[in-house]
Amino acid sequence: MTDFSYFTPTEVAFGRKSEDKIIPLIRKYGGTKVLVHYGGGSAVRSGLIPSIRQKLQEAGIPFTELGGVVPNPQLSLVRQGIGLCLGEGVDFILAVGGGSVIDSSKAIAYGVRYGGDVWDFFDGKAVPVASLPVGVVLTIPASGSEMSDSCVITYGEEGLKRGCNSDVCRPKFAIMNPERTYTLPPYQTACGITDIMMHTMERYFSSEASLHITDSIAEGLLRTVREDGEKLLQNPSDYALRASIMWAGSLAHNGLTGCGAPSDFATHRLEHELSTMFNVAHGAGLAALWCHWAGYVMDADPDRFARFAVEVCGVEPGNDARTTALEGIASMRAFYRRIGMPTSIPELIGRKATEDEIAVMAGRCSRGKTISVGNFKVLRYDAMVDVYHLANE
Ligand code: NZQ
Ligand code: ZN
Repeated sequence: MTDFSYFTPTEVAFGRKSEDKIIPLIRKYGGTKVLVHYGGGSAVRSGLIPSIRQKLQEAGIPFTELGGVVPNPQLSLVRQGIGLCLGEGVDFILAVGGGSVIDSSKAIAYGVRYGGDVWDFFDGKAVPVASLPVGVVLTIPASGSEMSDSCVITYGEEGLKRGCNSDVCRPKFAIMNPERTYTLPPYQTACGITDIMMHTMERYFSSEASLHITDSIAEGLLRTVREDGEKLLQNPSDYALRASIMWAGSLAHNGLTGCGAPSDFATHRLEHELSTMFNVAHGAGLAALWCHWAGYVMDADPDRFARFAVEVCGVEPGNDARTTALEGIASMRAFYRRIGMPTSIPELIGRKATEDEIAVMAGRCSRGKTISVGNFKVLRYDAMVDVYHLANE
């Protein structure tokens, strides 16, 4: 196992009445002029934004608003948000939505406290040292951004989607009311289930053995999300199931399930190119790739995949690790199909990717053949092309 640090400073208010804490928490973390940042309208239609407006007005806290964050959030709106915050003297950002809104908020928060272009943080020219405080009212469990150190922004004009990882902008608080997720369409719920599991699978499949306790936590989380996720799609208004998935989404990506081993995240890196190229939902892109990545890399450590098959997928242990491992991958493919997720690029986008598109995605993912991704097995440009080809069948 490797040494690690575990830093999860986000205060969580969870449950049906958690929205009562919005004003006390904004005050606690120093907000005196708030930007309420949200997406394409679901939070307005559900009544959440109107209720937040009312709470802020009654509390006498001045605020301004910026809606319109799209899935795979865009740098152009981030820049607009930075200008708005500077012009209005905003000192606190309230993100109301999912990963796209939270990441857009984090990027605005970095940009307000930086003299240069905020994209510098995403193309590696600068490292954040300060940000505005960000609070979250979560409406979709998926990205884990409400507790993560990560922020992923798309530079649409350049065809780039890049992440910035820094503890500087971990959210100060996250309000999580599972009832707010009842309105999610089944497809978005399934995308979330996929992404949540993947955040822990990216940590579970590592070149090094992790702590026993970390493996146990990871396997328990993965088993639970798989089982509860499938039940939830049959019972979308079941509070206990919504709550289970919502809390799992935060735990899967706040660092807890990766303590003691380096993480992989190759499937994520490959997916970010898919969602940039084809503007698809992140979770669906992950489902389209994972089984192909798994088949490509499993011989690096078949025992690890066999353990996953037994502990997470409920496969009967066999004498041969490789056979058990393959049964686990097949079980995940069947699971994705049952929850309505694609398991290949053609199922994701309705056609095969062209050779040119694959070359562009692998080129971007490898930053022009200069970097590799992954840790369970290191993937360079040619290996990235191989995985995209496998997923393209
Ligand atoms: O825009 P609105 O109208 O709000 O609709 C959203 C959006 O269309 C809708 N939605 C959200 N809550 C809803 C709802 N619809 C009905 N009822 C509700 N309660 O769901 C759609 C998807 O929202 P989005 O925020 O895009 O989803 P998600 O949370 O999956 O975030 C995806 C983004 O997060 C990034 C992804 O790459 C992608 O850009 N990620 C961020 C990470 C992080 N910061 O730690 C890690 C992840 O691996 C991921 O890369
Ligand atoms: Zn993800």
